[in-house]
Amino acid sequence: MLNAFHSPQSVALLGATSEIGQAILKALPHDSLNTCYLVAREPQRAAKTLKEVLPDRTKLVEIDFQAEATQTHKAVVDQLFADGDLDVAIIAVGVLGNNPDVDESANALDVMTVNYLACANLMLLIAEKMKLQGHGQIEIISSFAQTRPRVDNFIYGSSKAGLDFMARGLNDKLEGTGVSISILRPGFVRTRMTKGMSEAPFAVNSDAVAKVAVNLLKGDERIGYSPAVLKYVAYVFTLMPTKIFKRISNR
Ligand SMILES: NC(=O)c1ccc[n+]([C@@H]2O[C@H](COP(=O)([O-])OP(=O)(O)OC[C@H]3O[C@@H](n4cnc5c(N)ncnc54)[C@H](OP(=O)(O)O)[C@@H]3O)[C@@H](O)[C@H]2O)c1
Repeated sequence: MLNAFHSPQSVALLGATSEIGQAILKALPHDSLNTCYLVAREPQRAAKTLKEVLPDRTKLVEIDFQAEATQTHKAVVDQLFADGDLDVAIIAVGVLGNNPDVDESANALDVMTVNYLACANLMLLIAEKMKLQGHGQIEIISSFAQTRPRVDNFIYGSSKAGLDFMARGLNDKLEGTGVSISILRPGFVRTRMTKGMSEAPFAVNSDAVAKVAVNLLKGDERIGYSPAVLKYVAYVFTLMPTKIFKRISNR
């Protein structure tokens, strides 16, 4: 359970090698953190970095995970609850899908599978378990890209829009159960995912995203943009006539 200072005792980071995910884990209060589940393709890589920044008493549990292997997700999630309650789950798995070595449809399949199918399935499975324990918080990483389709990233944007939509619906359905879903919508974040790309306006580092992520877990707001100004940019983008939107988004 979270204590009076919103400090969790057990946290799971799914996509434990994610730079944003690790920044969130570092920014969370560690006062009561006893167990941290690191779920990743190479969880030992995550453990190596994170044991430097987490308290010595925090037990790190490494769990192998492959997003495409959806039939294994239930067993992965079961492991997160095997030793007791899970307070917070952060789902940071994701791909941008701009691999120039494969064609657009192969990229699209990868993006849809990892960002939507896998993340949504994990979220649903974890929510079911948290509902049984009567408390818990799940945070998913959506994106500013889900605001409106743009020619250069509409496949990625659609995968995030699907996940975001599911998270909002699920959060409403969970009302009164003690379980909630937070939705983080970052813009351009300087991580290995965006390495080599030209920066979009309002680019931030993962530490700035982590602050918003932790505040979301502490407060009543369920959706957070990073940086905050993107909330208003999203509003303007949504209302903007198509002709103008195409022009300013470089089509
Ligand atoms: N960076 C940005 O500008 C930005 C903006 C908005 C939203 N986001 C979202 O934020 C989240 C974290 O991104 P990040 O910037 O921290 O990038 P990152 O460091 O590349 O993290 C991506 C994570 O997803 C995991 N992953 C990818 N494909 C997988 C698969 N098939 N099976 C299992 N794990 C897989 C990666 O594992 P490996 O280490 O094994 O590859 C890694 O842990 C993602 O959901 C991303 O879409 C990022």
